[in-house]
Amino acid sequence: MPAGYSLRGPILGIETSCDETAAALLSPDGSVLAEALLSQSGHAAFGGVVPEIAARAHLEHLPGMVADVLARAGARPSGLGGVAATSGPGLIGGLIVGSSFGKGVALAHGLPFVAVNHLEAHALTPRLPGLVEGGAAFPYLLLLVSGGHCQLVAVEGVGRHRPLGGTIDDAVGEAFDKVGKLMGLGWPGGPALERLALRGDPARYPLPRPMRGRPGCDFSFSGLKTAVAQLVATFPAGALPVQVAADIAASFQAAAADCLADRADHAMRDFDAAEKLLVVSGGVAANATIRTALGVAAARRGFRLVAPPVRLCTDNAVMVAWAGIERLRLGLADGLDHAPRPRWPLRELAPAP
Ligand code: KG4
Ligand code: ZN
Repeated sequence: MPAGYSLRGPILGIETSCDETAAALLSPDGSVLAEALLSQSGHAAFGGVVPEIAARAHLEHLPGMVADVLARAGARPSGLGGVAATSGPGLIGGLIVGSSFGKGVALAHGLPFVAVNHLEAHALTPRLPGLVEGGAAFPYLLLLVSGGHCQLVAVEGVGRHRPLGGTIDDAVGEAFDKVGKLMGLGWPGGPALERLALRGDPARYPLPRPMRGRPGCDFSFSGLKTAVAQLVATFPAGALPVQVAADIAASFQAAAADCLADRADHAMRDFDAAEKLLVVSGGVAANATIRTALGVAAARRGFRLVAPPVRLCTDNAVMVAWAGIERLRLGLADGLDHAPRPRWPLRELAPAP
């Protein structure tokens, strides 16, 4: 283990950057001692996450959830080795709740505090012990696909993330959500759309594949979403025949999968590493068609595709605690004056020594 703090107890992780309230306790070697997660339910009626509702719900639930994971693990705050809280990017109200709570625990018990970058937490997840056979050694490729993020990153070390490309408009999950909404599937649209697509013909509607074949690794989904909107508008409002809806869902999903596979293919083509690993993470990684398309693209380039279990792909506190462990092992703690950052691109992380 490199010089840094020697972790004298479990690490508490806190996640409150969007609409999941989560706490987890990991032992210094990364095994999960206890975890709690609440996917807030108050947003669906509004068709998206309402920041004020999210912040209030974090405030209401987080203290009890932290007490719960400590109790279940038989741990006391004074016996912890550190506290790691997501401090950006995300919704500022939730970030303030989670990071302030974490700092309070750290201050009260003289513990090191880590201000975790949420994207880095996703990026380091495959290094959780036991997740990837043989371990995920740096460097590896990460495709992060969620409602708020769509990017390809070369993960070269703690604090060393080389963004290769990102979306120039919508994130892919956002596109699923918007298409779901305009088809009347409720929110979030991704899971409902995937279920509907099971009964549809993916070749029925030839939808555009934005950016496919273009140099680089950037993404674009707004043209695809608009194409679906135009297609839906050719039917009387609210009267999409069931089979048509299923065919549109399947056609959209196939187009999105093709786009992701093409962009990942570009990244893999130029990526040199002894162990060729493509990790896919984020809520959209739950989609079976997308996983299959990425698996095919990876195999073609001699890469191994790793998709962590869905509960570790979507927002959770285990990944936050683990990012804290990785940082503390290197002696990278943060001051209690660290201000949460609603915008915090990976390239602005200071590289680890
Ligand atoms: O990572 P996540 O839980 O939260 C953030 O956005 O950070 O991802 C949620 C996103 C939503 O856009 C949701 O529609 C999408 O992931 N999603 C899916 C599926 N399950 C969730 N998209 C496509 N297919 C799915 N099965
Ligand atoms: Zn996330």
